[in-house]
Amino acid sequence: MNAAAQFERVSQVFGDFTAVDSIDLSIAPGKLTTLLGPSGCGKTTSLRMLAGYTAPTSGRILIDGVDSTRTPPEKRGLGMVFQSYALFPHMTVADNVGYGLKLRGLTKGERQERVAESLDLVGLGHLSGSRPRTLSGGQQQRVALARAIAIRPKLLLLDEPLSNLDARLRVQMRAEIRRIQSETGLTVVLVTHDQDEALEMSDDMVLMRAGRIMQQGSPTEVFGAPANRFVADFLGYENFLTTADGGLVTVRPEHLEVSADSAATRSGGLALHGTVMDVAYRGVDLLVTVTVVDASGERVRLVSDVRADGRATVTPGDDVIVSAPETRLVSLPDETSSTLEPRDTDSSLAG
Ligand SMILES: Nc1ncnc2c1ncn2[C@@H]1O[C@H](COP(=O)(O)OP(=O)(O)OP(=O)(O)O)[C@@H](O)[C@H]1O
Ligand SMILES: [Mg+2]
Repeated sequence: MNAAAQFERVSQVFGDFTAVDSIDLSIAPGKLTTLLGPSGCGKTTSLRMLAGYTAPTSGRILIDGVDSTRTPPEKRGLGMVFQSYALFPHMTVADNVGYGLKLRGLTKGERQERVAESLDLVGLGHLSGSRPRTLSGGQQQRVALARAIAIRPKLLLLDEPLSNLDARLRVQMRAEIRRIQSETGLTVVLVTHDQDEALEMSDDMVLMRAGRIMQQGSPTEVFGAPANRFVADFLGYENFLTTADGGLVTVRPEHLEVSADSAATRSGGLALHGTVMDVAYRGVDLLVTVTVVDASGERVRLVSDVRADGRATVTPGDDVIVSAPETRLVSLPDETSSTLEPRDTDSSLAG
């Protein structure tokens, strides 16, 4: 099947700054793809090029297999929702949703039908006569979504649509967008810098850093086998160690055990002597910080997320064994030989 959209060696250069650096990207039809990465990595710039608001400095963008690099936004048949809802305050909800349809020359009857259908889809049929200012943030964002869907876009592009909502509503809306996507079978490209949002919502996730794509795959693929240290770090792998043979491994805090008992030493897997530096109480769990000396002789700080009943079995200053089973260790490629070297301008690993 044709990709719904394709980037071929697409770059975007602003002055002497390369915001998007020769990316190749394929967006699968009928799926939800997220562009994920830290602030400034080029997510919005990529989405704007796909929408046609900015022309790439070089490279091609294909939509449904057709070179659309120079096609103006209104001819691309895309729906777009931004972080700000940008609803017309003087129009009713229904008129807001129907706005794009009028521009497209649909008859009044067709428009009413599409508006009703779109508002039903986002669960706001009962508010069609309301003004935007009388709605909550979440409801306004649903209206913006209904407006984008009403034109039956080839692609629905969402740029951090949930970031203005409070934490609870944001989580609800993730499920809503998933439901709408699967009910309509729309191809959706969602930009986010929230890894939980991406993991929960994506069929396919694309991790970006400093204008480049670090990894693309399903959430389980990427989470289970991060391609490099940057991806691992971004997805919450906090512990990085050099192994005896000079390789780099990572292990998640929830898979790292800290034990005062030296009998805990395992055969296979990880087992190192360490010293407890800090124990932080966090309600459901405890965060234990330990320093160890890894195989390269380097002193390394490790964190273990202990699901305890709020009682620490270790205290700062204790000598402990830090361990993890073999199955929880994820090997990473040697960064120095990697083609994914960060650029000089990259600051995403700072701190
Ligand atoms: N019109 C422009 N002129 C100059 N630089 C720009 C322009 N647009 C974006 N940039 C720069 O390009 C880089 C990527 O910006 P972009 O908005 O794509 O990042 P982003 O990944 O969406 O970040 P955020 O998560 O903060 O929204 C940033 O360093 C930004 O300052
Ligand atoms: Mg952005």
